[in-house]
Amino acid sequence: MPPKKMIPGAQVSGMNPKVETALNNQINAEFYSAYLYLSMSSWFDSIGLRGFANWERIQAMEERDHAMKIFDYVLTRGGRALMTQINTPQSSWKDVLDVFETQYAHERIVTSLINDLVNLSTSQKDHATVNFLQWFVNEQVEEEDNARTILDQVKLISQEKGVGLLFMLDKEMAARTYTPPDLLKT
Ligand code: FEO
Repeated sequence: MPPKKMIPGAQVSGMNPKVETALNNQINAEFYSAYLYLSMSSWFDSIGLRGFANWERIQAMEERDHAMKIFDYVLTRGGRALMTQINTPQSSWKDVLDVFETQYAHERIVTSLINDLVNLSTSQKDHATVNFLQWFVNEQVEEEDNARTILDQVKLISQEKGVGLLFMLDKEMAARTYTPPDLLKT
């Protein structure tokens, strides 16, 4: 029997195709999150709140790490990580409160995307991916908590009309530092 013709560049994926596609969509969603938070960082810088700008910039770096964690996982499973178009994020906000309302709402959407991924992997009996995704399930608890906590603080400041308090919070936000993750750690 003649050998099967290989299409140049074609790759036989070791992954369930539905799970592979869904993970690729999540890579795109995580990069979009990085874009959105970089956009927020730039907006904060433009209004002179450099601490908030720092906080969002680090948030964007963490989102890129999330994307890369899934990227590496797809490759480890013999799949293809596809770089697709990233949507343009919002670029300006009414005020600080508006930013954190956007961020909290966005993190809740990401949580539902992760939950959908877990449901899909479970229904496809892809236990390794279900296991891999537990890191993201836990991470989303933290992500929502961070966004909600700052939203609550900004709400309090808005009620008090405390510009001084806002600068205090800005100082606190400036102290956030970036810790590179161990991407393959689950
Ligand atoms: Fe990648 Fe903020 O969740």
